[in-house]
Amino acid sequence: MAYRAHSVDRGEAPGLKDYYKNYFPIGVAVSPRALHTDEAGLVIRQFNSITPENAMKMGVIHPEEQRYNWRDADSIAAFAHSNGMKLRGHTLVWHNQAPWWIFKDANGQQVSKEVLLQRLKEHITTVVKRYKGSVYAWDVANEVISDRKDELYRNSLWYQICGEEYIEKAFQWAHEADPDALLFYNDYNEISAVKRGKIIRMLKGLISKGVPVHGVGLQAHWAVNEPSAEQLDNTLADFAKLGLKIQVTELDVSVYRKEHEMRGWQAGDSATDFTAAKEQQQMEQYRRCFDAFRKYRGVITGVTFWNISDRYSWLDNFPVRGRKDYPLLFDKTLQPKKAFWEVVKFEGR
Ligand code: GLA
Repeated sequence: MAYRAHSVDRGEAPGLKDYYKNYFPIGVAVSPRALHTDEAGLVIRQFNSITPENAMKMGVIHPEEQRYNWRDADSIAAFAHSNGMKLRGHTLVWHNQAPWWIFKDANGQQVSKEVLLQRLKEHITTVVKRYKGSVYAWDVANEVISDRKDELYRNSLWYQICGEEYIEKAFQWAHEADPDALLFYNDYNEISAVKRGKIIRMLKGLISKGVPVHGVGLQAHWAVNEPSAEQLDNTLADFAKLGLKIQVTELDVSVYRKEHEMRGWQAGDSATDFTAAKEQQQMEQYRRCFDAFRKYRGVITGVTFWNISDRYSWLDNFPVRGRKDYPLLFDKTLQPKKAFWEVVKFEGR
C-alpha cells in the first residue's frame, strides 16, 4: 500500500513500456531499497516488469539450511503486484552467490551428490511454490556453460559434485513446483559464436530429453564496441532456430570498451569519463540493439535492463573497481539520456 504514493506519477509522458506495448514487456532489475526512493516513480512510469537484482539469489533468500529470508523478495513481489507489473524470478541455481552451507555437511566436509541434489530440490520447490502466481518466468539455471575453449560445462562445485544432472533436475523441480511458470536458461557472452554454440548444444540436449525448458535468457551485458549489428543478428537468428522464446534479461551498454576479466585501476582510467564521443557511441549501440530486438519481436518476449539509472550500476565496480560507468538510459538525476530517445523514436525507421 505504501507504494501507492508513487502512482500519482502515472499518466504523464509515455514510458519505455508504452512505446514498446506492441512488442514486448520492458523490465528492470531492482533492489528493495531503490523502490523506497524517487527511483520507484521512474520504475512505475517506464517499466512493466521487474526482476530482483539480488533478493531471490540463493545466498540471500536461503542463507542457512533451516532459514529462508523472504523479506526482500516479498517486498519486490508486493511492489510488482500493487503496480500491475510482471515479475521475473532470478535465479534458482548459480555458482556465484550460493550459500556455503549447501555444499558442506555438519563437519565441514563436502556433501555427496545425493545430499546436494536433495537440498537443491528442497530449495527450488520451496522458493518456486512461494512465488507461484507472482513470478511468471524463472531464470532456472544461470551461467552453467564454461568460458574455456575446450570445456562445455563450467567446472563449478555444482558440477564437480553432481555432474551435469543438476541442470535438468533444476528445470524438472521448478516445473513440478509451478507448471505455469516459464523456465529460462540464462547466460552471458552469448554473442561469442563459440560460447553460443555450447549454450545451443546444451539446450538441444535438454529439449531432446523432454526437459521443461521454455526459453533462453541473453544477459546482454554489452558495451559501446560490441556486439556489432552482424554479431547481434547472428546471435538472435541462431537462438531463434531453437524454437524457444528469447528474453534479453540483463541489458546494459557500458561506455567503456568491453573487458571480460576483472582488473585493477590503471593510469588512463578516468572516474568521470562520459564524454560526448562516448555518449554518441552509446546512442548508436542502443539503437542497434533495439532495432534488432524489434526485428525479432516474434521470438523475443521480454527485454530487461540491469539496474534503473546511472546513479548505480554493478558496472561501477566491474571490471574495474571504483570506475564509474554510465550504462543505462536514465542519468543520475533520473532524466532520459540521448540514448533513451534513440530507443523510443523508431516509427518510420
Ligand atoms: C550476472 C548475474 C546477475 C548479476 C550480474 C552482475 O549477470 O546473472 O544476477 O549478479 O552478474 O550484477
